[in-house]
Amino acid sequence: MNGMKPLLMGTNLKMYKTAAETQAYLSALQTLTQDLRTDTTLFVIPSYPALERAANTVKDKAILLGAQNMHPEEQGQFTGEVSPLMLQEFGIDIVEIGHSERRHVFHETDEQENKKVLSALDHGFIALLCAGETAEQKAAGIADEVLSMQLKIGLSGARSETANRIWVAYEPVWAIGVNGVPAPADYVRERHTSIRRVLTQLFPAQEIPVLYGGSVNPQNAEELIVQPNVDGLFTGRAAWEAEKFSVLIRQVLPLWQRKQS
Ligand code: PGA
Repeated sequence: MNGMKPLLMGTNLKMYKTAAETQAYLSALQTLTQDLRTDTTLFVIPSYPALERAANTVKDKAILLGAQNMHPEEQGQFTGEVSPLMLQEFGIDIVEIGHSERRHVFHETDEQENKKVLSALDHGFIALLCAGETAEQKAAGIADEVLSMQLKIGLSGARSETANRIWVAYEPVWAIGVNGVPAPADYVRERHTSIRRVLTQLFPAQEIPVLYGGSVNPQNAEELIVQPNVDGLFTGRAAWEAEKFSVLIRQVLPLWQRKQS
């Protein structure tokens, strides 16, 4: 597929799957998606205790691996936290920052996300910054303002030399998880357009990939991937069985390729 950008598809395993389960999942996913290497960039973000086994399971970066969070400091008196040096030892590629559950269950602020983004970039990781408005913010008509603020603060101070390692995931808080309501494709298109505008303003020389996440499933994945400025899908529940994830990837890949041709 010359000149085509690979389809970006990933999943965050949240606080699911033990190390043994993660290993089984990854080895199945690796086998099931073997023929998709050149057309896709796949990534999986397991829990911390599963990272070592995950790294030993995946061969030749067939699937990129990430951490769900990271403390910005290299070491210190921060009980319960994990540092960039600890993550570097696993040879992982991505650090997910500011997932809705980090922001809303653990009350992380944009300023904290920003420290993590800068540290992740300085330590050679891809910083995957998640952004999304709550149902209340949506109802108040301020979704674009919220997204703009999360991106402008979250990515503040990122040097242009490292901006090629920034990925963004738009995940409306109200669309995530078992109680989430899948977002209409038109709504996703509007938000991605506005996110693209902000990112172009911040990093004119970079085409930062923007993924969509929040109740992505086989029923809505096709209409989401064809939207302009949607560069991939970030999936939770619908990707946690290797077979189902592989089917989902195959379902959207032709549409992604058609969109670019
Ligand atoms: P979900 O999770 O697909 O299960 O809604 C998405 C996410 O939290 O990234």
